[in-house]
Amino acid sequence: MKISVLMEKVYQILKLVYMANLPPKEVLMKIIGINGSPRLKGNTAQLLDEALQQAENNGAATTTYNLNRLNLKGCQGCYKCREIGREGTCVLKDDMNQILEEILSANAVVLASPVYMWQMTAQTKIFTDRLMPLLKPDYSSRLSGQKLLSIYTQGQPDLEKFKQYFDYVNAMFSFLGFRTQEPLVAGWLRDVNDIHEQPEAKENARKAAENLILADW
Ligand SMILES: Cc1cc2nc3c(=O)[nH]c(=O)nc-3n(C[C@H](O)[C@H](O)[C@H](O)COP(=O)(O)O)c2cc1C
Repeated sequence: MKISVLMEKVYQILKLVYMANLPPKEVLMKIIGINGSPRLKGNTAQLLDEALQQAENNGAATTTYNLNRLNLKGCQGCYKCREIGREGTCVLKDDMNQILEEILSANAVVLASPVYMWQMTAQTKIFTDRLMPLLKPDYSSRLSGQKLLSIYTQGQPDLEKFKQYFDYVNAMFSFLGFRTQEPLVAGWLRDVNDIHEQPEAKENARKAAENLILADW
């Protein structure tokens, strides 16, 4: 073996040993990002990323789930999750039980969806229905103060157009036990990269993320 290759190998090993011995970075918050858009690099995903990146810059650990990529069936209405002893799990053997576990152990959720026909996307609605196991049999919540920030993107330039709907959905999330933040809305978006023309929308996403993790509310 050439001496330079050997030196490189030794360097890599020493680096690994050094990194393994570093004290763990202090994680202030665990945040779960949920992307309800089928366009995985679209405007919604980009705003969600912007928010989560800012959260990470402030010490949070984040994980993103793309609902369109997951194996998620609609709620079957069996009410088994309401039974005593099931402890917040769903009988369906798909990806939702992992997400439920993640949410229960997280500090906050950032849920992002485009507006489709004046509402959240079908993917986001399936996810929302599947949050039923967060409720105990007496309808109290299994959550422990998790915060929730919703991000909506829309074609409509009037950001107030669907406000009533967004507030209504937020009320539902409060009922589930989340501490909800004012939804973030960005409009005038159609092509995947239209958001690039709106630095203020990205700035709003960063501010909303900071408020989510730094503000005590
Ligand atoms: C099926 C469909 C329905 C839509 N319905 C609405 C709507 O009701 N109101 C609106 O403002 N925009 C509507 N839009 C536009 C999207 O909300 C908008 O383009 C969004 O930014 C797309 O997000 P994405 O880039 O993450 O895919 C719709 C788009 C599609 C594909």
